[in-house]
Amino acid sequence: MEKTEQQAVIHVRDRGIGIALAHQNRIFERFYRVDDFMTRSRDGTGLGLAIAKSLIEGMEGRITLRSKPGQGTMFTITLPLWKPQS
Ligand SMILES: Nc1ncnc2c1ncn2[C@@H]1O[C@H](COP(=O)(O)OP(=O)(O)O)[C@@H](O)[C@H]1O
Ligand SMILES: [Mg+2]
Repeated sequence: MEKTEQQAVIHVRDRGIGIALAHQNRIFERFYRVDDFMTRSRDGTGLGLAIAKSLIEGMEGRITLRSKPGQGTMFTITLPLWKPQS
C-alpha cells in the first residue's frame, strides 16, 4: 500500500490466467463471468467485483485493473484519506 497526501493506493496482484481486454470493463457488471474453457467450470457468482466497485465508489474511491492473458492481473484501488475537520 502507498499513501500520499490525499489518498491510499492498494494494489492486489496475481499471476493467474489474466483477463482479456474485451472483458476488462464487463467484469465489474453484476453476474458477469468470463466464459471460456479456462473458467467455465469454476465456481463463482460474478458478484465479487460488482460489490467491491460499489463499496469503493461509495467511499469516493476508484478501482482499475491491468491484466495480460496468461500473465496475471493487478487491481488498483485508490481511496481518499479521511481528514478530520480542524
Ligand atoms: N483475478 C482474476 N483473474 C482472472 N479472471 C478474473 C479475476 N477476477 C475476476 N475474474 C473474472 O471476472 C469474473 C467476475 O469476477 P467477480 O466479480 O470477482 O466474480 P466472483 O464473485 O464469482 O469471483 C470471474 O468470473 C472471472 O471470469
Ligand atoms: Mg472474484
